[in-house]
Amino acid sequence: MNFIADMSLINGAYFVSALLFIFSLIGLSKQESAENGVLYGIVGMTIALAATIANPAVSNIQTILIAMVIGGSIGTWLAVKVEMTQMPELVAMLHSFVGLAAVAVGYNSYFDLHGVEGMMLNIHLVEVFLGVFIGAVTFTGSVVAFGKLNGFLNSKSLMLPHRHKLNLLAGVVSFGLMIYFVKQGGDDQSLYIMTGIALLFGWHLVASIGGADMPVVVSMLNSYSGWAAAAAGFMLGNDLLIITGALVGSSGAILSYIMCKAMNRSFISVIAGGFGTTTVVSEDQDYGEHTETNAEDVADMLSNAKSVIITPGYGMAVAQAQYPVYEMTKKLRDKGIEVRFGIHPVAGRLPGHMNVLLAEAKVPYDIVLEMDELNDDFPETDVVLVIGANDTVNPSAMEDPNSPIAGMPVLKVWNAKQVIAFKRSMNPGYAGVQNPLFFKDNTSMLFGDAKASVDNIVKAL
Ligand code: TAP
Repeated sequence: MNFIADMSLINGAYFVSALLFIFSLIGLSKQESAENGVLYGIVGMTIALAATIANPAVSNIQTILIAMVIGGSIGTWLAVKVEMTQMPELVAMLHSFVGLAAVAVGYNSYFDLHGVEGMMLNIHLVEVFLGVFIGAVTFTGSVVAFGKLNGFLNSKSLMLPHRHKLNLLAGVVSFGLMIYFVKQGGDDQSLYIMTGIALLFGWHLVASIGGADMPVVVSMLNSYSGWAAAAAGFMLGNDLLIITGALVGSSGAILSYIMCKAMNRSFISVIAGGFGTTTVVSEDQDYGEHTETNAEDVADMLSNAKSVIITPGYGMAVAQAQYPVYEMTKKLRDKGIEVRFGIHPVAGRLPGHMNVLLAEAKVPYDIVLEMDELNDDFPETDVVLVIGANDTVNPSAMEDPNSPIAGMPVLKVWNAKQVIAFKRSMNPGYAGVQNPLFFKDNTSMLFGDAKASVDNIVKAL
């Protein structure tokens, strides 16, 4: 490690890494090219790490290597151990680390100014202030998101009185503190007070967002963590960190926007902490009786069908039912029955969750369609198999303006001739609301673990 790299070589390496990260994002945007996308990302990150360590300004290589071995080991252990269903929690936790790192970098570059003076000092102080602010908001926001996603904190929104005024006040006071901080050429007290405010602000912002909007929160925190990394890049004068942070920040923001559109939520209302989401849930509504069925009858019904649509949800992921689902699909297609999959944009617990599972089980891409591509086809469909989905097929999103998921576009499965709902009980889904679909005349419940139920259907077929 005596190699002292020339700065231009390092910048060249950073440039190559930045390009690879962009290719990685392009690759990840399609299932067919996702594997290459991951590969570009790995190569880009390896080059970036090597170039950073080779930087002549880096003096304590041993410490960095020890940190990398510890971090790398924990990361590998987590990646091997984590279940697909726990991914959003893991992602939220990782975002919190990025936020914390940005706070640490901010404090470090404030206390160690390296002789920066004049106008450059002002710019640097703004970078420090914003970096610490965004980092602290990301940190506590992500910790709360982690808690809500793994059930450690209540996923219902926390409605503090005057919460919007409180959020606004936090923003205005922090802005005032920033002006004072810069005018004073740095001021410890202002930085400490703002950090405290930002930590509370991040906590409150995410705590006040209800369960049904959590997917958007996760991708929004992804965006914040990107901006926090970009701010750290400015503070450290590291171009690659700025580019990478901006890529993560903007792609997270675009994804949040797309998800908001898919759920018919206002982007501003979600990022402002559940503005206007006050809803009344009637707990004791009488939905009527539900009908039960069994695997043999479902197999019969499927054998007599011409067209079948499968709408998977979180329960398919929990049960790991994607493999028998593919077996069943093959058997039905061999009988000449048309089988398609309808994927809701927020089915499961992370964007693309269902697509990943189905791809894992080798379901052909061309029969896996987006919600909008087949939502009008249900009236001509003989059988719909709702496998572990609930909120994403809930008609009350369209019919009940007081429902917490009101306005969210859903798969209109109830328009099909027959609907079979696979689940273990009559418990509600993620948003905590009952689903009138399960009580409709053309719906039958197939109770049990989704994998066992599909296995039984495959046997009966
Ligand atoms: P959910 O509404 O979460 O419902 C899942 C259903 O699966 C439940 O009704 C559950 O009923 C059933 N289930 C669980 N384990 C099962 C098993 N082993 N076998 C059979 N059934 C099982 O699912 P969804 O329709 O996919 O909707 C997703 C929800 O998560 C939305 O509200 C969405 O906003 C939210 N969310 C999404 C994301 C992203 S980005 N996709 C992130 C966070 C939150 P039983 O318990 O009775 O079996």
